[in-house]
Amino acid sequence: MIKARIAVFVSGGGTNLQALINSQRKNILNSGEIAAVISNKQDAYALKRAEKANIKSFVVTKKSAGSQEKFETEIIKILSRERIDLIVLAGFMSILSENFTSRYPKRIINVHPSLIPSFCGKGFYGLKVHEAALEKGVKVTGATVHFVNEIPDGGEIILQKAVNVHEGDTAETLQKRVMRLAEWKILPEAVEKVSHEIVLKGRNYGNI
Ligand code: GAR
Repeated sequence: MIKARIAVFVSGGGTNLQALINSQRKNILNSGEIAAVISNKQDAYALKRAEKANIKSFVVTKKSAGSQEKFETEIIKILSRERIDLIVLAGFMSILSENFTSRYPKRIINVHPSLIPSFCGKGFYGLKVHEAALEKGVKVTGATVHFVNEIPDGGEIILQKAVNVHEGDTAETLQKRVMRLAEWKILPEAVEKVSHEIVLKGRNYGNI
């Protein structure tokens, strides 16, 4: 069976990467295969998860590349060499330029830990998103999977799931609940959905 080749971009713990690996094992993710993991942090625990699952990984840091442009050029080279069809940003804490995102329309997806358009855009990442939600006093938050375009967290929404805020929540307890009840479910579902569409349309090796 022909599958879409997926590159997962990570920066940290990689629990969303793990959810994708698990969903591949359970055939929830069936139309796509994780072909590569790309990290912009040398010490990301996500790299260990990739190694354990026998997935090729690459580290490209802005510092070693020298500039945003060179950083993205290095990544583009890897994507084309690995014949990647779909890019999944799973806790990737670096904003990609328009030069990069415009090369891959509807071929980059991101998971964000809030119900977009709340608590999103530049500066809203990781725990900061949950801190802002608690500060505002929202009673319902959640997660969103969306296509990536030139506007941070601004692309078309693919899936969303709501999660209740509990009394006494801290950013950490809320983050865990949003991950467990929303992100780890909707990210694999969305990746399967988009991979399936790519396979139906016919793959286009190295030319996503
Ligand atoms: C996740 O909550 C993800 O949604 C968020 O960072 C965490 C990464 O965790 N991403 C963003 O905030 C992107 N704007 P993980 O490394 O364990 O998957």
